[in-house]
Amino acid sequence: MASEVPIAKSCPKCDLPDPLKRNKSVDVSSYELPGAYTYEGVPLAYFTKVEHIEKIRNLHLREDDVIVASYPKTGTTLTQEITWLIRNNADTEAASKSYNYVRVPYLENCFPPESDGILLLEQLTPPRHLKTHLPWHLCPQKSIIDGKHTKAIYVMRNPKDALVSYYYFYCSCASFGQFPGTWSDFFELFLMDKLCYGNILDHYVGWWAMRDNPNILLLKYEDILKDHAGQIRHIGKFLGYDLSDDTVETIRNFTTFKKMSKNPMTNYTSIPEDIDTSIVPFMRKGQVGDWKNHFTVAQNELMDMIINKKLAGTGLTFEYDSTNN
Ligand code: A3P
Repeated sequence: MASEVPIAKSCPKCDLPDPLKRNKSVDVSSYELPGAYTYEGVPLAYFTKVEHIEKIRNLHLREDDVIVASYPKTGTTLTQEITWLIRNNADTEAASKSYNYVRVPYLENCFPPESDGILLLEQLTPPRHLKTHLPWHLCPQKSIIDGKHTKAIYVMRNPKDALVSYYYFYCSCASFGQFPGTWSDFFELFLMDKLCYGNILDHYVGWWAMRDNPNILLLKYEDILKDHAGQIRHIGKFLGYDLSDDTVETIRNFTTFKKMSKNPMTNYTSIPEDIDTSIVPFMRKGQVGDWKNHFTVAQNELMDMIINKKLAGTGLTFEYDSTNN
């Protein structure tokens, strides 16, 4: 993939226009996430305990549980909200009264203790939903591929936009250390495979290999943005629902970027001690192609090489441009 798009100005130390107006780099080589450790090749942080991952792997899920899985910043919250509404009769009133992270617990999160994902899951009455950013090899595979046939929905996004979104999340989120560096510093962390949950492309490839399993649905963020109603139907069908036009429209309308970014149940303004949305809103832009405002020509060329190498032979491709924004 050649870099044909004129991207943000090229510069040796990548001193790009940065909406956070940062011009000071951090020492990336010594930078660590709070409580950083690596588990089976996956960089994780203090909010996931090793014992917790072992528990998750062997978790006995119900047949009617649904897992929403993803690499961070690929459209997880949007997919969670759509999925929850599909399985709760498009009850937007109930969804307006309960935080998305309570309705759909974050499985591997252990802090604070009252937000422990496994405990929250146990407190839910069916139909239960859960969210995870764990790569396929750390997930409760047994429940998905044999025995219970728990369903999993994995959402992906073009890795350039996902990394830009992840950068801003790193800057605003205390669990991720409120990263003090520039976009270029963050890109270096990516190159060094130091980002929490590992390399985005490895994460994709792990789940992509499972795409023919009838209990797993793979989605792309760009497809949801292009055909929101169609993708709601598609998810519904996978979950065994034949949704009426009215129901689809109710869910679509409730899950637009405009609505979700204003909705305190989904926009994460409720936990400022962890996600400081005054630094960067969680619901930032919700667009395809913002990477062009961040990647230098050199970074883009390097990224294309990495993408080509990691995805070679997989058949997995992404859209990097949109006319729909
Ligand atoms: P940006 O930072 O590019 O705006 P996740 O939920 O996996 O953390 O992903 C967050 C990204 O999805 C953010 O991307 C956010 O704005 C975007 N997003 C969240 N809800 C959305 C919606 N309803 N429509 C479009 N994009 C949405």
